[in-house]
Amino acid sequence: MVTDNKAVISFIQVLKEDLSIFRLEPVDKVVPEYKAGQFITIGLENPAENNKMVRRAYSIASNPENRKYIELYIRWVRKPLPGRLTTMLFNAKSGDEINWLKPTGAFTINEKLANGEKDSRRIICIGGGTGLAPFVSYAKHLHETSDKREIVVLHGASYVDELSYRDVLTDLEYKSIDKGRDKWNFKYRAAISRPQEHTNRSWSGQNGRVETFLRSTDGDKSPLELLVGEKITKENTIFYICGWQGTIDGVMDFLKPKGFVTEREKREDGSFEVKYESYG
Ligand SMILES: Cc1cc2nc3c(=O)[nH]c(=O)nc-3n(C[C@H](O)[C@H](O)[C@H](O)COP(=O)(O)OP(=O)(O)OC[C@H]3O[C@@H](n4cnc5c(N)ncnc54)[C@H](O)[C@@H]3O)c2cc1C
Ligand SMILES: NC(=O)c1ccc[n+]([C@@H]2O[C@H](COP(=O)([O-])OP(=O)(O)OC[C@H]3O[C@@H](n4cnc5c(N)ncnc54)[C@H](OP(=O)(O)O)[C@@H]3O)[C@@H](O)[C@H]2O)c1
Repeated sequence: MVTDNKAVISFIQVLKEDLSIFRLEPVDKVVPEYKAGQFITIGLENPAENNKMVRRAYSIASNPENRKYIELYIRWVRKPLPGRLTTMLFNAKSGDEINWLKPTGAFTINEKLANGEKDSRRIICIGGGTGLAPFVSYAKHLHETSDKREIVVLHGASYVDELSYRDVLTDLEYKSIDKGRDKWNFKYRAAISRPQEHTNRSWSGQNGRVETFLRSTDGDKSPLELLVGEKITKENTIFYICGWQGTIDGVMDFLKPKGFVTEREKREDGSFEVKYESYG
């Protein structure tokens, strides 16, 4: 028998009709311990199903050092049929109660190499849509803990107004300039997959789905390699990918020929260079 904890939805930021940021504050005021990249399961009783509890997993966008609330970045699923939990959630108000189960999940930042040495490889995070959520947590956590690794966050969205957390991530990049890259080495870039749409007319950055950052033109460096200023190899970089399975497959199409392997298919010696979490 599962025992649900209770939280209050303390803050809702409607970014778009079907895209919002929610903050949850446990009623006992104790934010559960978790690691950057983990997810929390939240639940609401569905009146349309005899008040059956509907529970779903959401990546935590806040960082573990934040002891005030748990932040989530959620899409209201509307097609082909309204999603059960998200439809209830997008009808909820600040102050409403919600159930939660403790955070869990293995999509966390790798700290040790297979040989036991510290993992100091460059971190590249590739998030499609709401798949950005775990990387907001990574970025804030790595900043708060003064991590010295080079970190690049790439976000892919259909529309410019879905580049949520752009201000937070841009500010983190400015901090790199202020502090010096020897102290905090962070970069953030985005790709817009429907550049021809009228609402995207202001966009002058990368066009196409987020995996196009890895595509080299004329056999030369890719936009990602131009950004980091060197060839990306399995020795110098670890990739984290979250989003649609198509995004993960699209990224692996570029990485597999270079010898990169995923954690799920790690080598006999335990080494790997890619971790991913798929929407399924
Ligand atoms: C580890 C993990 C982390 C996640 N993190 C996030 C996150 O950070 N942000 C986020 O937005 N999502 C996240 N998700 C997805 C989330 O858990 C839910 O799957 C999503 O919100 C949909 O839930 P729902 O109850 O609204 O939809 P559901 O009711 O579960 O519906 C799912 C799909 O089935 C369709 N459907 C529903 N009923 C029917 C029917 N009768 N016939 C045919 N099709 C139907 C819906 O249209 C929808 O496409 C995560 C999932 C996992 C596993
Ligand atoms: N960890 C998880 O399991 C997790 C985390 C977050 C969200 N989710 C769930 O994922 C669903 C949708 O996410 P979203 O709304 O955030 O995404 P989205 O905004 O629809 O898409 C984000 C980006 O991914 C591209 N994309 C869409 N389908 C693709 C595919 N099959 N292959 C490759 N790229 C694709 C889009 O390109 P186009 O413009 O070309 O469509 C867009 O650039 C929601 O139901 C959400 O609940 C799951």
